[in-house]
Amino acid sequence: MTHLVLREEGSVRFYAPDVSKYGSIYAAPVFYNPAMERNRTLSVLLLKAYGSIYGGGLSVCEPLSGTGVRGMRYAVESGVVGRLVLNDISKEAVETIKMNLELSGIDAEVYNEDANALLYRLAGACDFVDIDPFGSPAPFMHAAFRALRDEGLICVTATDTAVLTGKHPRKCLRRYGSAVRRTPFYIEVGLRVLIGYVARVAASEDFQVQPLIAYWEGHYFRVCARAVRGARDADDALGQVAYIEYRRGERRVVNRPGERSLGPLWVGPLGDPAVVRKMAEHGPHRDFLLLLEEEYSAHVPWYYRVPEFAVEGRSVRLKEALAALRGAGIYAVRTHAASDGFKAEASYGEVRRALFM
Ligand SMILES: C[S@@+](CC[C@H](N)C(=O)[O-])C[C@H]1O[C@@H](n2cnc3c(N)ncnc32)[C@H](O)[C@@H]1O
Repeated sequence: MTHLVLREEGSVRFYAPDVSKYGSIYAAPVFYNPAMERNRTLSVLLLKAYGSIYGGGLSVCEPLSGTGVRGMRYAVESGVVGRLVLNDISKEAVETIKMNLELSGIDAEVYNEDANALLYRLAGACDFVDIDPFGSPAPFMHAAFRALRDEGLICVTATDTAVLTGKHPRKCLRRYGSAVRRTPFYIEVGLRVLIGYVARVAASEDFQVQPLIAYWEGHYFRVCARAVRGARDADDALGQVAYIEYRRGERRVVNRPGERSLGPLWVGPLGDPAVVRKMAEHGPHRDFLLLLEEEYSAHVPWYYRVPEFAVEGRSVRLKEALAALRGAGIYAVRTHAASDGFKAEASYGEVRRALFM
């Protein structure tokens, strides 16, 4: 029997393991991580925004459900869910999901099987598939696209941030097929390796992905994208998968891998500023969303950090750097990935000159 406590998140009340009985969330028989609240809340806001554009009655599948809190929040808070499919490979999790659905009077199909088996069976029936696994989403990506309808929405969480950001380069090569190493902009590299991987799997399933929101929050990366079916569209998306060469501060996009390049990774937009603005209208995490909107308006697949331009160990403050760049006519914005980082539509040399003008 699982020791449970009643919790609240967003507009739902639900049972989750009593962590005091297990010592940590990872030791509990059913997984619930309160630190993923922003991940779930932003996903609710996105689904709501998506539904307001494409209409309601959506089929939503969350094949790695844990307690079911995420799917339940989609049903209760987005107002656009028609069919809800929840699933977990763990029997204890499924018992908890059923108890939680009953508590809130939510209707859902609940399965106790391997996520991939379920997704392949759903074959094109889902408007929204949310892959929220332990660690890497890679093992579920092909099946996720099989379950998705044309113009569907796909969201993916990756908590293997150390792999994606270059701490374990060989594992990144195995898991995502990308070469990574540490750079000043390693957070964005990790996010773009993940999107690049999603885009390549999507293309192999004849889908083009168009990222709507992608971000990092310390312990995870999250990307949500619209997926359009079509071989030619998929080819177009692959045109946004390339490499970054990083040498002595300078960064540049190249189409072929070199000895010192990073990638393949996504070099297209990280998100859609209009969608993120719409999400911000609804309230929670507004400042974060407005920061993403600002960041997505700059069209460069990296950021700079002010210490990169330090002289005798002293660097200017971010605010001053942005003012100097804008004064020099360079488009520059903040990034959510580093408090001392900025995106500038200019080369390293041009930024340096602008900062010391
Ligand atoms: C990170 S937790 C999900 C958390 C949940 N989405 C949330 O927002 O609270 C991942 C879940 O996937 C389940 N799981 C792991 N491998 C699975 C598989 N192959 N098929 C189905 N479920 C699986 C685990 O039992 C666990 O409950």
